[in-house]
Amino acid sequence: MEPLEILKKEGGSEICPLRWESGRLQLIDQRRLPHEESWLDITTWKGARDAISDMVVRGAPAIGITAAFGMALGAKDLYDGLDLEESIKRLEDVAQGLLKARPTAVNLAWAVERMFKEARHSLDVNGGASNLYDDLEREAKTIWKEDVVANIEMGRYGAQLIQDGFTVLTHCNAGALATGGYGTALGVIRYAAFSGKRITVLCDETRPWLQGIRLTAWELMKEGIECAVICDGAAGHFMRRSRVDCIVVGADRIAKNGDVANKIGTYTLAELARANSIPFYVAAPFSTIDLKTESGQDIPIEERPEEEITKLNGKALGPSGVRARNPVFDVTPHELVSAIITERGILRLPYKDAILERSD
Ligand code: MRU
Repeated sequence: MEPLEILKKEGGSEICPLRWESGRLQLIDQRRLPHEESWLDITTWKGARDAISDMVVRGAPAIGITAAFGMALGAKDLYDGLDLEESIKRLEDVAQGLLKARPTAVNLAWAVERMFKEARHSLDVNGGASNLYDDLEREAKTIWKEDVVANIEMGRYGAQLIQDGFTVLTHCNAGALATGGYGTALGVIRYAAFSGKRITVLCDETRPWLQGIRLTAWELMKEGIECAVICDGAAGHFMRRSRVDCIVVGADRIAKNGDVANKIGTYTLAELARANSIPFYVAAPFSTIDLKTESGQDIPIEERPEEEITKLNGKALGPSGVRARNPVFDVTPHELVSAIITERGILRLPYKDAILERSD
């Protein structure tokens, strides 16, 4: 089954941030949502790289899938008679270019590495690039499909933690739009809601890109799941004064010891959750777990332009010349995480053992 069919048939959801149509990657422009649903055609690897760095597509798994198709697009110009070493060199350039697009989400490196391995295999087996493009196209589609299947599976596991009547708080967008479809944190909420549980979702608006109000609220409303947006600073108030039954967020990279990098503000939520005895769950596929990174200290944190903070829709918010700092992720120490929901089951402390037990 194709990813879109799986989504519809097994997931009951049709929201998907990408399509692959006769050699062209189509991406919904997430910068324009929710007011405009416009699709961009990506026909070159550089186009894929720019779409990632410019936030047309965002969310760790969706970035990884885009990069995988980017690798396939980068192989389009490599022809059969081309020298083997030259073919590899050109692909290495493509891979390096894609890797620089965004540094924190490890799914990007994971997908590029996997595609590169497939490329080497194809070049070796065929003694050249005769099947390279077809093989890479197939591999990218497989990565996409595996992500969709993993998300639904994660939803099935994670929904066991969500009871009928729960109020769930989430941060940023870890939904269909951030993945190949269905979502990680929102996948858990979706699965619980689709299986008949009454869920209310509190969505942090998520400064400065506003993924919570623009994307998460859009997804939930489209599928009839009750939600309300709160400004980021209100999360602690709701945890202390009204009922928040649990927090579910996604991840951009999980270190070997279970430390979690996710959208800036996640760490604050985790501390507040501990202070208020609220379970704090992270939902992420194994492609987000980075066994090469020992702890959160080693995770590179992307810092984006100051203007993303100081301006809104091109209009200055502060005094002229005001400086800003814009780290877009933070790291939550593993001891604050009540469980990591994966497609291979629910992991609990000590995460290092739980992760290694289920790794390939
Ligand atoms: O800057 P973004 O929008 O790419 O950040 C996205 C997040 O932080 C998500 O929570 C994370 O990538 C998980 S998506 C399933």
